[in-house]
Amino acid sequence: MRTALITLPTYKEYNNLKSLIPAILEQQKKTKIWDIKILVVDSNSQDNTDKLIKEFQKKYKDKIYLLETPKEGLGKAYYKGFKFALEEIKPYVVFEMDADWSHDPNLIPTFLKQIEQGYDFVIGSRYIKGGSIPDNWGIHRKIFSVVGNIIIKLGFAKPKITDWTSGFRCIKVWVVKQVLEKVKKYNSYVFQIAILDNALKNKARIAEIPLKFKDREEGFSKINSLQYIVHTLFYVFTHSPFLLFIYVGSLGFIIDFSVSWILIHLLNMNKVISNGIGAETAIFSNFMLNNFFSFKHKKITGKISGYIKGFLKFNFISIGNVLVQMFGIYLLLKFFGDKDLIMLNYSVPSWTVYKIIIITFFIVPLSYTLYNKIIWKN
Ligand code: GDD
Ligand code: MN
Repeated sequence: MRTALITLPTYKEYNNLKSLIPAILEQQKKTKIWDIKILVVDSNSQDNTDKLIKEFQKKYKDKIYLLETPKEGLGKAYYKGFKFALEEIKPYVVFEMDADWSHDPNLIPTFLKQIEQGYDFVIGSRYIKGGSIPDNWGIHRKIFSVVGNIIIKLGFAKPKITDWTSGFRCIKVWVVKQVLEKVKKYNSYVFQIAILDNALKNKARIAEIPLKFKDREEGFSKINSLQYIVHTLFYVFTHSPFLLFIYVGSLGFIIDFSVSWILIHLLNMNKVISNGIGAETAIFSNFMLNNFFSFKHKKITGKISGYIKGFLKFNFISIGNVLVQMFGIYLLLKFFGDKDLIMLNYSVPSWTVYKIIIITFFIVPLSYTLYNKIIWKN
């Protein structure tokens, strides 16, 4: 039998654990292929959780583990729990699950079915058909959860995953082994976003099953909403390949200008040649920075010939961009005219507005797509 280990991080959940642990182990009756075990990671709750677990350990032989940790946040509790699981328990899958009855233990066999189907990472989703968030959640919490998920979804350009922040998941251990050290530094709730992002970058196959999230009835929530918002935004803005690609492109623009300016004004070089050198320097730096930064999870490695090929392709796409831009300017000038536009009391030449429109709506999405399809393929 394969072990399915349910990891329960707990801080002051005595009353919930009393009924939840038997309800989880009850699931064993529904399966003959999985050995269901529980790892409680308790952060010094001081409410007799430890005594309760020790009693359960006597009742349910070899089914329950207790790991005691200092209180360092949900992410840290999971990190330590998973590390302990890999070293001491060696399960086939680990679950993430809240210990406050928000997550229905009756869903455990449904998660395992998806694993049997070949998925590596199964998410209990509140945002697919059949899933839900509690009606009694305040409007703030609803907006926060929905908007948060939309921002993450856009940032990572993964429209198919509907619930990035859910805390009820089942993960194959090979995925955990690949990503655990990379997510070690995320102590707070953002750990859950980080582990999913890294799983995707390691090509884990993801499935979602509907989850009806229930509000807790006992105890209190430990989430720090403001901290969670800040950590989530920071994570997305520093890990989204698309945003990193935008930063690299903006830097390229500055490099192009600076190099051209230095060559023209300090070295008195020819303006046309200087601009060419400036542009090519920016293309080179964009290529290198995208390789080691924006697309580092699928970066070109190994032989120098691989780099040269990639760089040549990158140059071709850049030339394509120039042509698209010229053609776009031609069309817009032709159809919308070549007059100055009045914006906020300033008069601006129409071509500058056209250029911004073309770059934002054509060049940026087009080159991002081409890089993903031609240079940094999966
Ligand atoms: N060991 C340990 N240490 N456990 C912790 C800690 C900690 O520092 N902080 C929280 N927990 C435990 C809680 O005792 C509970 O079992 C579980 O982690 C979830 O914590 P809650 O405090 O109940 O979280 P929530 O209901 O506000 O947040 C929910 O939504 C988040 C965002 O969607 C949960 O489902 C989270 O998992 C989810 O990330
Ligand atoms: Mn909760």
